[in-house]
Amino acid sequence: MKPSLLIATLSLLVLTDYACSLNILGIFPYHGKSHFIVFRIYLRELAKRGHNVTVISHFPEQDPPANYHDISLAGSIKAIEGEAPFQSSYLTLFIVSLYLAHAAVETCDVMLANDQVQRLIKEKPKFDVIVVEHFNSDCALGVAHKLQAPVVGIMSHILMPYHYQRFGIPYNPAYVPFHFLEGGTKPTLYQRVERTIVDFYFRQLNHYYTQRTNQNSLAKYFDDIPPLEDLAREIKFLLIYQHFILTGSRLFPSNVIEIAGFHVVDAKPLTGDLKKFVDEAEHGVIFISFGSVVRASTMPADKVQEVIKVMQQLPQRFIWKWEDKTLLVDKKKLYTASWLPQVDILGHPKTLAFLSHAGNGGTTEAIHYGVPVVAMPVAGDQPANAAAIEESGLGVQLQVRDLTAENLLNAFKKVLDPKFQQRVKEVSRAYHDRPMSPMDTAIYWTEYAAKHSNFNFRTPAADVPFYQFINLDVALVLIAMFSIYVVLVSALIKKCCCSKKVVKTTGKTEKKKSKRA
Ligand SMILES: *[C@@H]1O[C@H](CO)[C@@H](O)[C@H](O)[C@H]1NC(C)=O
Repeated sequence: MKPSLLIATLSLLVLTDYACSLNILGIFPYHGKSHFIVFRIYLRELAKRGHNVTVISHFPEQDPPANYHDISLAGSIKAIEGEAPFQSSYLTLFIVSLYLAHAAVETCDVMLANDQVQRLIKEKPKFDVIVVEHFNSDCALGVAHKLQAPVVGIMSHILMPYHYQRFGIPYNPAYVPFHFLEGGTKPTLYQRVERTIVDFYFRQLNHYYTQRTNQNSLAKYFDDIPPLEDLAREIKFLLIYQHFILTGSRLFPSNVIEIAGFHVVDAKPLTGDLKKFVDEAEHGVIFISFGSVVRASTMPADKVQEVIKVMQQLPQRFIWKWEDKTLLVDKKKLYTASWLPQVDILGHPKTLAFLSHAGNGGTTEAIHYGVPVVAMPVAGDQPANAAAIEESGLGVQLQVRDLTAENLLNAFKKVLDPKFQQRVKEVSRAYHDRPMSPMDTAIYWTEYAAKHSNFNFRTPAADVPFYQFINLDVALVLIAMFSIYVVLVSALIKKCCCSKKVVKTTGKTEKKKSKRA
């Protein structure tokens, strides 16, 4: 009885799996590898769960399963090299803005020119849902429009400035952290003015340059693409790689879903020299990494010396992701390598702190394993992540301009404190405690968009005209009513008073008159 029941259950599972298999297209025109690391895991999982997945990207799979099909854009654009300068300034911000706009145009043109993409659009296979990266360009929405399927947006980081309005998400500089700038949820007046101006700049650049150029690129191939901003508002769900335990509660409508965490794999035991180095660290280790885009070698020499001074003042050993071999420090104190197994190091119980540029990947891995962070943001979303790290209790911030031996030592001492370490473990536990795993959540809402495609989940906040959104017309009506009331009342008072006065004065004048007379 039991085996037959098992077989029946299994075949039912297989059948339901088969019945629910969706035809899914992923469109990922951006060539940044740090983003695709996250998407790859999600796309492979969609395939693993029985869906037929086709992916347009710069990162074809080496060994794809039978139901995973690549449309490769690899080699059409030079990959991003890690050469960003180690400083945070308005100039860096300006360069980043131009880079994003330029990359948006280039990646769109390259994708549209691809033969396989053109064939796909011509053949128009039926897709149940199309997943697009939601980042610096809306070009992919034009392609999705040609294929007529519900669209799900996915991000590997927090929202960009031009994303709020299309989803009806309130953006208020007073309490909404700004992607590219410091200040978190409690900005100073200076920071609020600063982020208002920078926000305006980014939105205009996107609207008048990036989106317009992408629209023109699409128009070269198709004559029926609606305005990209309108297509963006048709996105069914936006899957966003953040979590409220780190970022704090945000005002998101029901179709914006937090999915952060699924890219973090289980930490494996360390091996070789690194294992020996960590095992022999009596007081634990501190891990330093500025990610793959920021190069440690571009760090000014005097700043490097400040970090080395701090190493000598702490009992902990240090592991530093460092691209050259010129650091003259005791090999028992410091381990350097150009590549390090970051997750395995963060997952090691002896790792007590993480000095990081606060990229979204590393930050997510730190909260996953409950490792306190000293966040030193440089560019992109790092300033906002660093503020979230401090506000959530996951760590402390240290701006690059404040990097001195004294400040860094204080930052390390703060996060090495047993009470602080305890608190970070609590933060990590709260982060892990969820009704559904982040991957299940991402897959669930993707399938939901396909299954219930006749509905729209957009908040009305995204549709009302701006003057209604801020109640300008209501305010005007109220001001008008109040003005009329004031005018009427004052006229009435004038009439009453004046008629008395008139009586008095006429009385007086009459007296005067009568006197004169
Ligand atoms: C799966 O996707 C591929 C590539 O897009 C397509 O050729 C194939 O027909 C699809 N299979 C099914 C069962 O829809």
